[in-house]
Amino acid sequence: MSTTGTGGVARSALSAAGSAPQAPSLLALDAVDAYYDRSHVLQSLSMTVESGAVVALLGRNGAGKTTTLKTVMGIVPVRGGALRFDGADITGLATHRIARLGIAYVPEDRGVFASLTVQEHLTLANVRGGWPIGRVYEAFPRLAERRDHRGTQLSGGEQQMLSIARALTLAPRLLILDEPTEGLAPVIVEEIAAIAERLKAQGLTMLLVEQNYPFAARIADRVYVLGKGRIRWKGAPEDLDANEEVKHTWLGI
Ligand SMILES: Nc1ncnc2c1ncn2[C@@H]1O[C@H](COP(=O)(O)OP(=O)(O)O)[C@@H](O)[C@H]1O
Ligand SMILES: [Mg+2]
Repeated sequence: MSTTGTGGVARSALSAAGSAPQAPSLLALDAVDAYYDRSHVLQSLSMTVESGAVVALLGRNGAGKTTTLKTVMGIVPVRGGALRFDGADITGLATHRIARLGIAYVPEDRGVFASLTVQEHLTLANVRGGWPIGRVYEAFPRLAERRDHRGTQLSGGEQQMLSIARALTLAPRLLILDEPTEGLAPVIVEEIAAIAERLKAQGLTMLLVEQNYPFAARIADRVYVLGKGRIRWKGAPEDLDANEEVKHTWLGI
């Protein structure tokens, strides 16, 4: 399976065509509805992530960002609309099958095991085509230093790095990050931003949920603003930056 090369190809196609609508969507949500019991949380939500692009999903607490990601991963069921990945209908697929298609999910709580060492986390997950451990340690020198430390001995920033690094060992075609900077000190946020920029430069497709607006604006090619379960705005980060009304109403800035 050739996964690492496709991002680069799609990237040049994208830049050649500017913002052409025919840019290939790696992931598409088409009028997706999702519920918790009778609570209608996602309402006809449509969005796309093009191959090689970084797309940010922004919104206040409770807007439905995590639910959107869980819907993509098949953790929360799609009750209306459809999900497509690389042109194939993945609506209703089990989470493990979605993951096996090449969608790696770094959840809000980071999913680091208390009793496993850094090295154990990385070797457990490693699959063919994924980043070998040496490459992970080159990209994340802090993890190399901490390779024998257990989950509980890691700082929040180190746990976040481990969670991202583990996802990279899975050879993702799409990396999904839920609030990677949440609760981290500015200097660590800067490290995570630099890592995300390097991954982007390598052509990795990413869907990023954030409440840290400057971080998202720095990394993202395109932004969706989610409010009360609906997409309220979409466009380029610089256009959002100039839109005080959307920022005020839907992001609280
Ligand atoms: N497991 C759940 N059961 C019931 N309601 C939930 C559950 N998870 C989230 N919600 C509700 O769904 C809405 C969207 O939540 P969420 O997707 O976590 O928002 P965000 O990630 O944008 O903060 C909120 O009103 C939240 O209270
Ligand atoms: Mg959330």
